[in-house]
Amino acid sequence: MASALRLAVAVTCALVLMPSACHGLEVGYYKNTCPRVEQIVRAEVKKFVYKNAGIGAGLIRLLFHDCFVQGCDGSLLLDPTPANPKPEKLSPPNFPSLRGFEAIDAAKDAVEAACPGKVSCADIIAFAARDAAYFLSTLHIKIDMPAGRLDGRVSDATEALDDLPPPTSNATELAGIFAAKGLGVEDMVVLSGAHTVGRAHCSSFVSDRLAAAADIDGGFASSLRKRCLADRIAGDDPTVNQDAVTPNAFDNQYYKDVLARRVLFTSDAALLASPETAKMVRDSAYIRGWWEDKFKKAFVKMSRVGVKSGKQGEIRKNCRVVNHGYPHGHY
Ligand code: HEM
Ligand SMILES: *[C@@H]1O[C@H](CO)[C@@H](O)[C@H](O)[C@H]1NC(C)=O
Repeated sequence: MASALRLAVAVTCALVLMPSACHGLEVGYYKNTCPRVEQIVRAEVKKFVYKNAGIGAGLIRLLFHDCFVQGCDGSLLLDPTPANPKPEKLSPPNFPSLRGFEAIDAAKDAVEAACPGKVSCADIIAFAARDAAYFLSTLHIKIDMPAGRLDGRVSDATEALDDLPPPTSNATELAGIFAAKGLGVEDMVVLSGAHTVGRAHCSSFVSDRLAAAADIDGGFASSLRKRCLADRIAGDDPTVNQDAVTPNAFDNQYYKDVLARRVLFTSDAALLASPETAKMVRDSAYIRGWWEDKFKKAFVKMSRVGVKSGKQGEIRKNCRVVNHGYPHGHY
């Protein structure tokens, strides 16, 4: 019965090509074609994250930035070519701050060695981001990540600028950008909790949070000023931890930081702008397990945004370049 239904859906998707009706993502999607894929990706992510926790933060952000632009289709991984000199990864929201690409390459290489041509780069990003959250949460955040995404062939830097929220966003703008991707205000609040790990470059927040009057704790602002302005003389763009308290722990400390006004961006502070979102912030900070549970669901929901199927996509051989010729390997 269930498999007959699945077949019917697959046939309908193939014939009618209605992507919105064909979110055919499934937990254990590769159980026949590449049964060890999730272990393989996890082992690679583990190596990178244990060497440098920052790569874990980068991988979590990578899924967000992939999914909001052209859907979760690996478009973020494509390198520039003469025909497409400005792909997403060179867009200001991504370059030079985004990290973790080498971990994706290593995972893809290991997966290709075990099951050539079977696993999409889009799914590898989703698995890797999930695993990064797992390791950075000291194995507390466990997510069943559905798979079956195909890789896209379009990657355009201007779309990244249009679709990703800038850190200067206010609450209304943030809600609008998330709604455009089918995500609600609660998703936006609980996903922002990812800012409990990783770093930001001073250029991402100095102008609207330190150089102008802002709703930010005075002591926190002066420590940021010291760090950002001291090195500015050297002409570079220093980084600071997003969460000053537990910088590498994927936990709910971010929400305590929001309440203490010790967060970096206008978009973080904006979570207190309405009573509705402020309550979500307090629940995340104070109710044990509340945020973790909501985060897991919202993360999977985000991983389903704009997923490609059928002739819209392919399984890339190399995550940095589209396959030659027109999409093959998945009809
Ligand atoms: C709500 C709107 C959001 C805005 C405006 C935003 C903006 C930013 C900015 C400006 C940075 C710093 C980049 C840099 O200067 O190096 C950053 C870092 C980061 N963001 Fe977001 N972000 C948002 C939502 C999210 C979501 C939904 C996730 C994932 C679920 C996420 C995960 C991360 C992570 C993990 C980092 C640290 C990356 C690293 O250390 O390499 N962000 N974000
Ligand atoms: C948010 O930003 C938009 C566009 O920049 C502006 O029109 C709006 O008034 C702002 N909303 C609030 C509540 O500040």
